[in-house]
Amino acid sequence: MWDRKSLLSASQFSRSDVEEIISLASRLKQKPERLCSGKILANIFFEPSTRTEKSFQAAMYRLGGSVISHKDAGSSREKGETKKDTIRILSSYADIAVIRDNESGRMQEYTKAAGVPVISGGDGSNEHPTQMLTDAFTIKEEIGRLDNLKVAFIGDLKYGRTVHSLMQLLSKFSGNEIFSIAPASLSLPSDMKSMEAGRYDISQLREALAETKPDAVYCTRIQKERLNGEKGSYVVDSTLLSVLPPHCRIMHPLPRVNEMNVEIDADKRVIPFVQAANGVPVRMAIIAKMLGGA
Ligand code: CP
Repeated sequence: MWDRKSLLSASQFSRSDVEEIISLASRLKQKPERLCSGKILANIFFEPSTRTEKSFQAAMYRLGGSVISHKDAGSSREKGETKKDTIRILSSYADIAVIRDNESGRMQEYTKAAGVPVISGGDGSNEHPTQMLTDAFTIKEEIGRLDNLKVAFIGDLKYGRTVHSLMQLLSKFSGNEIFSIAPASLSLPSDMKSMEAGRYDISQLREALAETKPDAVYCTRIQKERLNGEKGSYVVDSTLLSVLPPHCRIMHPLPRVNEMNVEIDADKRVIPFVQAANGVPVRMAIIAKMLGGA
């Protein structure tokens, strides 16, 4: 059971924890409540972000709280201050902190330095647990269930932190089948391969989707900033959508670069912008639960 003292990994969540957050997020999406009036959230981002940072900011404002924000540019990090000292200082000005880091595996250390509840806003190529909860909420709203789903993950499954978190969450529900479609050099980390019901090379993308008939397709960007010489590219376009079932939903955590053609945006099955908008009520639910407002 999630202790609400930190939110760093999918491994902290039981199925009922996820269902509780989804239920509160649904309520707050319909009607925002000022559950965190007078509280301050520190957004501490050591790596660029649009959706995660700004949706946490919007979420805290909608809850009646305030936000202080850190980016390295223009801060004393440019004078050589460490990440840990920066976290310690900003957390002492706030009631809760969201931290995004380009390095994997330092969130526990940061949580100790902070001394307030910490939410991971993305942990290198490791995990992105609040995107996971946003994705789960969106799947529940759009498809109606989190059990007995066939989900095809496409792209950079090696460095894709949103994939790592969402696959773990899906494995906590029953009857889900996960298919991975990736370049060989960007396949899932070895400790996650046991989750796969099927594995395809990216060159078999169309055949894989036609064969598996997924309920959801989860596309990811090939992350140039994390590549170590590996290569891989693909494009989801209208030709590819023609092999997918009418009820299938095509998801992407964004930002997209070239892997999702904008021509498909008009197709109602394509929902990355719905996912992004759902980031606000889901993050409201997370903050409210961690600050004791709900
Ligand atoms: N989905 C996501 O994490 O987007 P940002 O990098 O813009 O926060």
